[in-house]
Amino acid sequence: MIIAYDGDVVLRELVEEDIPKLAEYANNEKVSINLRDGFPSPYGIDDAKHFYDRIENQHPKTFFAVEYKGNYVGNISLVIGTDVYRNSAEIGYFIGEPFWNKGIVTKAVKLMVKFGFEKLGVSRIHTGVFEFNKASQRVLEKCGFEKEGVFRKSITKNGKIQDEIRYAKIKTGNL
Ligand SMILES: CC(C)(COP(=O)(O)OP(=O)(O)OC[C@H]1O[C@@H](n2cnc3c(N)ncnc32)[C@H](O)[C@@H]1OP(=O)(O)O)[C@@H](O)C(=O)NCCC(=O)NCCS
Repeated sequence: MIIAYDGDVVLRELVEEDIPKLAEYANNEKVSINLRDGFPSPYGIDDAKHFYDRIENQHPKTFFAVEYKGNYVGNISLVIGTDVYRNSAEIGYFIGEPFWNKGIVTKAVKLMVKFGFEKLGVSRIHTGVFEFNKASQRVLEKCGFEKEGVFRKSITKNGKIQDEIRYAKIKTGNL
């Protein structure tokens, strides 16, 4: 089922046929270095199946496939907060390295933000980016996210302690 699209970039529900490509694109240290340790590395077909099983019956659905020119290229998600954070959501995304720097995730994030504000009803979408991940910081800036602060030395990734840059976008009349 298609959730949203902008030209060649489509957000849709993940299907079982995506599992091999998910495992292929996720099994890349240049991807995992930018993500939390909960993202397996190496990333095998069983990891992709486990992920698919976990999100298949999710309600409401907030984990989607990103498609570019008709092909699965990666994932994008919103995780809605709980308790006092129930109107906030954390955005996450990755696409396969062969597709980087084509403007795909910029389009996908804009679509997902609109989906979050209009369909899920959240009023704030945020994320944290590791300090060395300049491409993701650029994506968020291009999508109108504002830098809210730096969580200094809050990340330990591959044995290195790093800053995390926190970004957010607030729902306004002007998306
Ligand atoms: C980060 C990521 C999502 C970007 O996706 P993408 O589709 O390549 O992004 P876009 O093409 O829309 O935009 C990338 C922007 O970053 C810029 N960029 C790329 N590498 C850069 C670098 N090393 N330094 C500064 N800018 C950089 C690009 O030039 C582009 O900006 P521009 O349009 O002004 O030229 C993708 O590289 C990815 O999946 N990385 C691994 C997982 C990840 O980092 N997830 C996010 C965790 S917070």
